[in-house]
Amino acid sequence: MALRADTVVLGIETSCDETAAAVVSGGREILANVVLSQIDEHRPYGGVVPEIAARAHVEHLDRLIARAMTEAGLGYGELSAVAATAGPGLIGGVLVGLMTGKAIAAASGKPFVAVNHLEGHALSARLTGEADFPYLLLLVSGGHCQLLLVRGVGDYRWLGTTIDDAAGEAFDKTAKLLGLGYPGGPAVEQAAGRGDASRFSLPRPLAGRPDCDFSFSGLKTAVRRVAQELGAALDERAKADLAAGFQAAVGDVLVDRTRHAMRMVASETACTRLVVAGGVAANAALRARLLRLASETGFSLIMPPGWLCTDNAAMIAWAGCERLQAGLTDGLDTPARARWPLDPDTGR
Ligand code: KG4
Ligand code: ZN
Repeated sequence: MALRADTVVLGIETSCDETAAAVVSGGREILANVVLSQIDEHRPYGGVVPEIAARAHVEHLDRLIARAMTEAGLGYGELSAVAATAGPGLIGGVLVGLMTGKAIAAASGKPFVAVNHLEGHALSARLTGEADFPYLLLLVSGGHCQLLLVRGVGDYRWLGTTIDDAAGEAFDKTAKLLGLGYPGGPAVEQAAGRGDASRFSLPRPLAGRPDCDFSFSGLKTAVRRVAQELGAALDERAKADLAAGFQAAVGDVLVDRTRHAMRMVASETACTRLVVAGGVAANAALRARLLRLASETGFSLIMPPGWLCTDNAAMIAWAGCERLQAGLTDGLDTPARARWPLDPDTGR
């Protein structure tokens, strides 16, 4: 069902290290989309420092929201609702965005929508593409690696998850280990582009298993072992080859696990659509692998553009539009949640 084009929602995202505000319409128009990355603040530490992230959100959020509203050419009174990420994520940051969103909703007398960050990623493909329900979702980000059946807004069936690291986390740790810089995902992708994936033999954890779970910690350990064995021979060439080998192994695992999930959902439902979302889905080599998988299996594949895969507020505003239209608004007493599973039946 198409959303009403005259629905206009302000979205706020502060759950990790991006401070973001966006204004999106039910007609799939992105009226403003402002993202401020805190990369420089966290770079000296080689990862996101929760306290620094929360402070940076406090410092920048008001200005970013004002900019988004100016770009959209709207006053708060013209909004249909205000949506903010209420979790899961780093609790200090989530609180900053959630309290700000509630305050704007209260001051302007608009409905408030508390958005699950994972639902933001899950529905993002519907903002830019024709992703009708139901679809199989591969959600690969810095904090999550999951396969879910998306049956509708707020209606998710969990199929599998990582039993240790998330895929993005594995990229970040591998980049740190190889001294490739921060943020890790794009750095590994760049190095891998210059490397030979066949030089080092690396494991494909859980590949072939009759479930939809993932594991990446053994792969990360294998990369560390190879790097240690190389010692002084870990030059730029070896780093590129190791990055390429790592990326190919992640690709094999994602393809194997997703192929299994496709078989599972296709035997139970008429679902033949695959959606890939989350920051890792910005990786061009992995996108190419998944495209090949889709063409082999006869699934249609919908991947949001890279800027919509990494954290942003357009996906939060869009999830706000979808939830508003489904009548799912929230009270101003809605809590911030560090953990918030999409499938309440399994708690994952
Ligand atoms: O969705 P996202 O922006 O934040 C979370 O919700 O976690 O995902 C961030 C993750 C990071 O681990 C980052 O290294 C990874 O996505 N990432 C990538 C690429 N761009 C971002 N991983 C692999 N290749 C990329 N090009
Ligand atoms: Zn995310």
